[in-house]
Amino acid sequence: MVTYLDSLFAENKDIFSIKRTVTQLGWHGNKFLPCVPGDIILDVDRNGQKWIDAYEESGKLEEWIENIRPYRYNNIFRGMMGASFGATLLKDLSHRTVFFHLWGDSRVGKTALMKAALSVWGNPEALMVSFNATKVGLERRASLFNDLPLGIDEKQVAGDNQTFIDNIVYMLGTGSGKLRGSKTGGTQAISNWRSFILTTGEEPISTMTSQTGIITRVLEITGKPFYSTEEAAKMHEISESYYGTAGKKFVEELIHRYPKRNELKEKYKDIVSKLKNDTENKISTHITSIAVIILADMLESEILFNEKDCEQRSYEMGLDLLNNLTTITESDIIEKAYDYIHSWVISNKNQFEITDVRGISTHAAYGYERYGIIDKGKYYILPHILQGILEKQKMSYRKILKGLADRDYIDKDNQGRNLVTKRWDGQTQRFIAFKTDMRECPFE
Ligand SMILES: Nc1ncnc2c1ncn2[C@@H]1O[C@H](COP(=O)(O)OP(=O)(O)O)[C@@H](O)[C@H]1O
Ligand SMILES: [Mg+2]
Repeated sequence: MVTYLDSLFAENKDIFSIKRTVTQLGWHGNKFLPCVPGDIILDVDRNGQKWIDAYEESGKLEEWIENIRPYRYNNIFRGMMGASFGATLLKDLSHRTVFFHLWGDSRVGKTALMKAALSVWGNPEALMVSFNATKVGLERRASLFNDLPLGIDEKQVAGDNQTFIDNIVYMLGTGSGKLRGSKTGGTQAISNWRSFILTTGEEPISTMTSQTGIITRVLEITGKPFYSTEEAAKMHEISESYYGTAGKKFVEELIHRYPKRNELKEKYKDIVSKLKNDTENKISTHITSIAVIILADMLESEILFNEKDCEQRSYEMGLDLLNNLTTITESDIIEKAYDYIHSWVISNKNQFEITDVRGISTHAAYGYERYGIIDKGKYYILPHILQGILEKQKMSYRKILKGLADRDYIDKDNQGRNLVTKRWDGQTQRFIAFKTDMRECPFE
């Protein structure tokens, strides 16, 4: 059979028409799968096909537009919608994968908004994934849903497993999969993707101990996406009735109006520099991600909602979201560690001995496990104690110690080491000399 098909193909090579097959959605030249495929064929396995089937249509585009329009007064609503459309822009803007994490109380309509955002592209219920999915499953979806948003609902279902979440954020955020063996032998190709990953949860995705890398990848937005729970409930119905039409129109018009899309890149750069001017101390990847959302919102307003002169409104929406994101200092792991150790020493003051100006111990900390000494406002902490409390918080002791020393939050000895030597109880002991007066107080 194989020999037969082989020679049949060889004999007729000139009369077979050739079509390109691809394994990822999104941009392929000036074609965009799934909505503007041209003659490109998507070649995926059965599992993948199930996911692709979710990109279906229901209702008319006009119905989607008129039902969504009234909700656009809300910046958070607009923001996640912008992220959903903005996924298609990342490639041309050479922007890496971003997370849009909406968190807040239950029943404010986080899931409702995610469904609205996914209704741009297809059946939202079928497109939505949960954090319960396996890492490999999420990776395969991300790879397939290239240049399109990936919606992951409810962080809580992953429970308290912060390491798992951090891993997922890193894995999805780096935009490339691991090399692994395929079922048929050999290795599967490494896949790359770009996506706006939309997530919801009752808590932020990053915790106090998350690495700076996690925080810069995630736009952590909190607030109410709807006026009322009733409005949110109505959005569930709208997004289940009308979907799959807006994304198609958006991409068609993008190809038609901006065939080279250079103009978009210029616009994007303008927005970025304007945002830099209008804010202070914001993380640069947050600025660029918000700029993508603003640009997408401008394009949406023009292409779908037929609104004129609305660029200022789009800009203000983005600026509002950006203003609520953390600043560089707040997100910094070393600063967080400093604040953590600070509050830890204060609350454990009784476990430190206090020496007076003559070097004589005045508070003996009897009956307590001793953590170190307080001397002239400085806490000399025993290294194994600090190592223990940092590691309990999943912070790296060595990394934090180096960072604190670099910022002069702890003393160095005369050889530049991060531990200082002190006589204590007739012994020579090494300590971390922690300074407590490094924060400015606005009231003094
Ligand atoms: N499938 C649904 N259809 C209609 N209403 C729903 C549906 N799911 C939730 N709701 C209602 O929508 C409102 C907002 O809920 P939801 O979007 O789940 O908020 P959150 O994700 O913030 O908890 C609630 O009043 C809820 O009862
Ligand atoms: Mg929810």
